[in-house]
Amino acid sequence: MSEALLDDLNVIDNYDGESAAGTEFRRLLHNLLTNSVLPEEGRSFLITSAMTGEGKSTIASYLAVTAAIYKLKRTLIVDADMRKPTLHKRFGVKQEGGLTDILEAKAKLEDNFKKTPIENLSILTSGTAHSNPTRLFDSQEIHEVMRALKFYYDLIIIDCAPIIPVSDPLLLSRDVDGILIVLKAGETPKEVARRACDIVHEAGANLLGVTLNNVREALPYYYNHRYYGYNYAAKK
Ligand SMILES: Nc1ncnc2c1ncn2[C@@H]1O[C@H](COP(=O)(O)OP(=O)(O)OP(=O)(O)O)[C@@H](O)[C@H]1O
Ligand SMILES: [Mg+2]
Repeated sequence: MSEALLDDLNVIDNYDGESAAGTEFRRLLHNLLTNSVLPEEGRSFLITSAMTGEGKSTIASYLAVTAAIYKLKRTLIVDADMRKPTLHKRFGVKQEGGLTDILEAKAKLEDNFKKTPIENLSILTSGTAHSNPTRLFDSQEIHEVMRALKFYYDLIIIDCAPIIPVSDPLLLSRDVDGILIVLKAGETPKEVARRACDIVHEAGANLLGVTLNNVREALPYYYNHRYYGYNYAAKK
């Protein structure tokens, strides 16, 4: 992602399909859906990173919006980052009534898919703040919930915690079809990036790819869309 995307977290107001970033999200989604071993229907993938703050939630959100708008798929975005949940804010819904509540048997999965202003896009939030996410990730129930999602949606995008500091993404790796790693260009040290990929490989999970975020800050001008005049669409 080479474009500065946001000043705040509101995905719906900030999304611009005609922008350079919009193009990059369509390209990334296309690559994920076509150049990988994801199954034809009922695909799910998890987004993680090596460290915190590399852009997981941002990329998960815009990929989900892109999928719902351009692929017309029944898309679900899941906030499985119970440690630093942000998706409810990004989509303007309540945090409560989500994963933690379902895992604690305080709510039913089928009653807690929240609608977003985008047709075809629903969200499963992280749920009421929980003091022990590790216990919830270690449960059998979380695997059952993750697998059940495919019954309701064609494409499931799961925002998770980073893979080096915590084991949450790894624990979900066998419930999803693949893992996408987000790295912040110019900031994530090479050895740290390699370690994140090794962890995924060692777990036998399917690494779909690595996407570089914040490229414009880190790479020379010729990596920037605008240099080539691609950003020609008029702003609303
Ligand atoms: N391409 C980008 N251009 C500009 N700002 C960005 C970009 N990607 C992410 N950001 C900003 O960087 C910050 C961190 O991004 P984000 O919350 O998506 O990361 P994260 O990996 O989910 O973080 P955490 O590990 O805390 O969950 C946010 O303020 C976000 O708006
Ligand atoms: Mg996040």
